[in-house]
Amino acid sequence: MTLQSLTIRRPDDWHVHLRDGDMLRAVAPYTARQFARAIVMPNLSPPVTSVAAASAYRTRIAAAGCNSETRFTPLMTCYLTDAADPDELARGHAEGVWVAAKLYPANATTNSAHGVTDLAAIRPTLERMQAIGMPLLVHGEVTDPDIDIFDREAVFIDRILGGLVRDFPALKIVLEHITTKEAAEFVTDAPATVAATITPQHLHLNRNALFAGGLRPHAYCLPVVKREAHRLAVRAAAVSGSPKFFLGTDSAPHAVDAKESACGCAGIFNAPHALESYATVFEVEGALDRFEGFASEHGPRFYGLPLNDGTVTLQQAETTVADRVAGLVPFHAGERLGWRFME
Ligand code: DOR
Ligand code: ZN
Repeated sequence: MTLQSLTIRRPDDWHVHLRDGDMLRAVAPYTARQFARAIVMPNLSPPVTSVAAASAYRTRIAAAGCNSETRFTPLMTCYLTDAADPDELARGHAEGVWVAAKLYPANATTNSAHGVTDLAAIRPTLERMQAIGMPLLVHGEVTDPDIDIFDREAVFIDRILGGLVRDFPALKIVLEHITTKEAAEFVTDAPATVAATITPQHLHLNRNALFAGGLRPHAYCLPVVKREAHRLAVRAAAVSGSPKFFLGTDSAPHAVDAKESACGCAGIFNAPHALESYATVFEVEGALDRFEGFASEHGPRFYGLPLNDGTVTLQQAETTVADRVAGLVPFHAGERLGWRFME
């Protein structure tokens, strides 16, 4: 077999958690190394709800090494609460601070306590976003404790997302980090205003990974990984070539002791080898010719942003993932991946 090398237009990460403070400084360079731009999630504590806070956060990200010197542009998002102000949102968008806004159903995940409790509260905001062409990014899980955690995404689609798409036909909506057959089908069948991001972990893992020989906190993220049939449906969507599906790592670092705990945090730190991880999937699926679309083209086209200049190259060569990166446990820790990102 001849070893391949894969050169693609510089990709973007359409969903990442860069955190703040020491953690930001530790993790941000890994995202800046592989990606030209990233949609930065606003679930800090306190959440990023004002233009001033987003602008200050962007400055801290630049100071952490994600800036023009490293040829990286952070794309900021607004955290929607019940008190979201359509004027503030529109101002931040017009000033080029906010690219999109994130809908966390209250208490769905990490730092989402201030999220939206009732969609009715943000209808005026959604109307404004629709009018100004600002995308809505959705954490698509219901939080009803009566709903089984493995069903929360499918129930969200059924109870909430269908209506949202109907009521706001011109609003661009990204269903983030899809994990189910239902989500892949919904997005495929939806109008062109609806797209989805896909993480490496939801392409590689099914729910057995959470319990392989014991409890595995480093495989725990939200939405939680699902049955094998769902993983296969999400993989098929990723490699389909459909412009509705694009790369969003949801890299979500937590300190090791916060993961390895009696009540461990949700989130997988996949930034160090994100492209190698995705490339492995596209190779196995015989879809390397569609990797560039997924990683570098579908996202910017959906967002209405220019494609990046320049390229990155991956070589078919073994990469052994370290047990610790920046003091954290990365995705695929201790495993071998068949691709290597070339600097
Ligand atoms: O696993 C996750 N971690 N899912 C989320 O939705 C949030 C993220 C985080 O911020 O840790
Ligand atoms: Zn996320």
